Amino acid sequence: ATAADQVVAIRAGKLVDVVGGKVLQDQTILVSGERITAVGPTASTTVPAGARVIDLSRETVLPGLIDVHVHLTGDPNLHGYRSLGVSDIRAAMYGAYAARRTLEAGFTTVRNVGASGFGDVALRDAINDGELPGPRMRVAGYAIGIQGGHCDNNLLPHDFHFTENGVADGPWAARAKVREMAKFGADTIKICASGGVLSKGDEAGAQQLTLEEMKAIVEEAHKLGRRVAAHAHGASSIRDAILAGVESVEHASLIDDEGIRLAREKGTYLVMDIYNDDFILQEGAKAGMLPESLEKERMVGQLQRDNFRKAFKAGDKMAFGTDAGVYPHGDNARQFFYMVKYGMTPMQALQAATINGADLLGWKDRVGSITPGKYADIVAVGGDPLADPAALTRVDFVMKGGAVIRSDARK
Ligand code: ARG
Repeated sequence: ATAADQVVAIRAGKLVDVVGGKVLQDQTILVSGERITAVGPTASTTVPAGARVIDLSRETVLPGLIDVHVHLTGDPNLHGYRSLGVSDIRAAMYGAYAARRTLEAGFTTVRNVGASGFGDVALRDAINDGELPGPRMRVAGYAIGIQGGHCDNNLLPHDFHFTENGVADGPWAARAKVREMAKFGADTIKICASGGVLSKGDEAGAQQLTLEEMKAIVEEAHKLGRRVAAHAHGASSIRDAILAGVESVEHASLIDDEGIRLAREKGTYLVMDIYNDDFILQEGAKAGMLPESLEKERMVGQLQRDNFRKAFKAGDKMAFGTDAGVYPHGDNARQFFYMVKYGMTPMQALQAATINGADLLGWKDRVGSITPGKYADIVAVGGDPLADPAALTRVDFVMKGGAVIRSDARK
């Protein structure tokens, strides 16, 4: 047998079945090459002769985690004016570091929703070509938004004549931006429907792209086979993004009853980054964030958490996304604590970070559960993540596509 078809048998003491919503005892997972070939009770699973056995019998084994809102090229120490000293190439180098940290923390798939210089496209391709360790990636290239908006860069005065490459005003300019992103390698489209917390000179809750512009973007993206993620804090921007047909609303901080209802009716995912508030308020000033950003965060942070509870209770679909890059890469799992605190069971939080993430990315056939035919993206923790979601911050075993990335599990 060659390495490629070497069979690996993983003994799982406990296995989280995110599809069935239950925990199974004493399971064996068979992996051949990159894929899972079988899963079943250890007592009734025949391990082929010559298989390599990985003993996780004292661990809880889960599918690789999925974070659908990250910025791998973003350095959390370089916010505000400090970001101006970072070249796109330097940011991509940082992204190689962040990709490894993210993977080692158990996140085997991410969606990167905005990067300068197509650094995310370069990272995705380098990871896929086996040059760098990192998660599977969906990437957006530049986030598309209005002049002076959240996805522009408003730090410099007019003298410098700087406009971010993702800026587009008007439906046809916005359409052309979608085509440009697709041309240079984006498999996903990210737009800024409202203002933001970390941008200068705008209001987080105020709408930026119009309904007309968003309709044009979504139509063009879908025509080109790309899904759309909309950054939107304010209620009207959330409503119009959903009406325009985006697949996910990011942040959704100030969502109102109408937005909650529309999201449920249209099956739009909400991706609410409810850990972020802690880092911004505790570390943001030290990390260079502008005073106005800290003020904006104080206005939306708690409301977002309360609205997370409300929207989930009302039946909105949720996928796990954290905005890593605002806070340090690898700390992604800290958000599980808040998802449980604000109304999910630990199993529901895990489903948001596995099957739901896979569904939103259009990758349900390849990741998101430990199911024969899918990639062998498998992680393990020593504690019990169903009793204590914080256990997920201590992933000690990671396999991606059948390759062991780290193995620090207790024997
Ligand atoms: N990137 C987002 C923005 O600047 C971060 C929002 C973080 N705050 C929060 N409560 N989730 O708008």
